[in-house]
Amino acid sequence: MSDLQAVLVGAGGMGRAWARALAANPDVRLVSWVDLLTERVADGIKAVGLSDVAIEEHFEGALLHNRPDFVVDAAVPDAHYEITRHCLDQGVPVLGEKPMAATFEEARDLVMFSERSSTLFVVSQNRRYNTRLAAFKDLISEHLGGVGQLNAEFYRAPHFGGFREEMGSPLLVDMAIHTFDAARYVSGADPVSVLCSEFNPEWSWYRGAASAVAEFEFTGGARFSYQGSWCAPGLETSWDSSWRAIGPLGSATWDGGGNPVAEVLRPGANGAGGEHIEAAPATISGDGISGTLADFVKALRTGEKPMTECHDNIKSFAMVVAALESSRSGRRVAVEA
Ligand SMILES: NC(=O)c1ccc[n+]([C@@H]2O[C@H](COP(=O)([O-])OP(=O)(O)OC[C@H]3O[C@@H](n4cnc5c(N)ncnc54)[C@H](O)[C@@H]3O)[C@@H](O)[C@H]2O)c1
Repeated sequence: MSDLQAVLVGAGGMGRAWARALAANPDVRLVSWVDLLTERVADGIKAVGLSDVAIEEHFEGALLHNRPDFVVDAAVPDAHYEITRHCLDQGVPVLGEKPMAATFEEARDLVMFSERSSTLFVVSQNRRYNTRLAAFKDLISEHLGGVGQLNAEFYRAPHFGGFREEMGSPLLVDMAIHTFDAARYVSGADPVSVLCSEFNPEWSWYRGAASAVAEFEFTGGARFSYQGSWCAPGLETSWDSSWRAIGPLGSATWDGGGNPVAEVLRPGANGAGGEHIEAAPATISGDGISGTLADFVKALRTGEKPMTECHDNIKSFAMVVAALESSRSGRRVAVEA
């Protein structure tokens, strides 16, 4: 089978990560790399050690000159709509970085254009592709009898400098979507409504709110509570959060790093004692962006829909938008994708 030809847009930090992932995938050939700052592409090509990759300044030209099988969009969020819309109009499938678009209206439009053009649009929600998160999901479905209560704690204290320290709502807008998406993934449920409060501790080095507390209702009545901060020095959690899930047959925890564990009631034990289970990492299609790429390539070859296809991913984006609205209004808000 011939290689699928790819155009990569964006040559920042994530663009380089994508160039490496594309180079490592045996089914794919990166033919052109685009950035408005072409010197970034030239530096990236050297740093990653690529050859035979055309440098382009504009994605429209790259599409015209290369007629690729797909585009990876790793440009800035403000450019996602324009790039994806143009590709979908041309019938070129897109694997885009999160967030799907800069605004929810744009995201809805893109889902509609994907439908209208019958062209695949997938968002690379890379933190879903984690062998231990998948093991935690399996523990819940196989041993807890489902989940009625789910909790994630995210506490870190990075000094990024740059746009994150200047933007409004950095935690909810730039990071929480990963945890919200993981909550949907492990529970297998969809969000219904949210009550959220975001705030900025007085010692915060961010201009916008760097902390948030949110409580979601999920389909089936389960509750997902999220507590997070990007200005929480000391005893930091993993970037993948620290989790607890509670179901009718027991509880499971995952510290976001090691193997997840569960304690499951023995039949007739009536709450006392329990069987301890440690889950080994699960088999998935690949780690992080390599996994999202592998599923995307499989979809192009077989038509099998990837789990972060745009109709699914917009639900995680909707959780962020509803949490922001709840915090602004002080009211519980429906989550509508
Ligand atoms: N999934 C993750 O874990 C993760 C981590 C970091 C960033 N991201 C996402 O990846 C994307 C890129 O982030 P980054 O950190 O690499 O940003 P960056 O600012 O370092 O790089 C973005 C690049 O896009 C280029 N660009 C902007 N508009 C363009 C256009 N119209 N055409 C071509 N190039 C254009 C810029 O010149 C810049 O070089 C963002 O959407 C970000 O949210 C995801």
